[in-house]
Amino acid sequence: MVKRIITYGTFDLFHVGHVRLLKRLKALGDELYVGCATDEFNSVKGKKSIIRFEERIEILSCCRYVDRVFAEKNWPQKPDDIRRFDAHVFGMGSDWEGEFDWLSDICKVVYLRRTEHVSTTQLIHHVKASPARSYA
Ligand code: CTP
Repeated sequence: MVKRIITYGTFDLFHVGHVRLLKRLKALGDELYVGCATDEFNSVKGKKSIIRFEERIEILSCCRYVDRVFAEKNWPQKPDDIRRFDAHVFGMGSDWEGEFDWLSDICKVVYLRRTEHVSTTQLIHHVKASPARSYA
């Protein structure tokens, strides 16, 4: 039986924290399915990514640990996704600790420790704070 892992996120400005999370999630089973937040869903959450949805999907799909990418369009879709993909484990980074325990009726829920000192928000701040460079 194939052991399938499922996770969700925006994965904007794909960085090493994302890679390490996906690698560790994949190691929990055989296949990793990733729900990538659409631009519309992000705007509902008051977020705006730098990289648009189609390109975030393309980047995620090229990650060797990811077997399938699908759209995350709203909050309540998770139990349906878990059932339709027959996922055994739902996993997120530790910033979400406890938030998805309600899914433990239908699958195992795990929270993996975040990689320290890197996040999309931090990258954006870092770039904004950097002195302008000339690439000529
Ligand atoms: N993640 C992680 N380690 C990091 C950053 C993110 O394990 N250093 C995980 C998150 O916990 C989440 C997934 O990667 O499960 C997708 O996170 P996302 O929100 O897209 O990335 P962040 O860098 O946390 O973005 P932001 O700064 O906008 O919150």
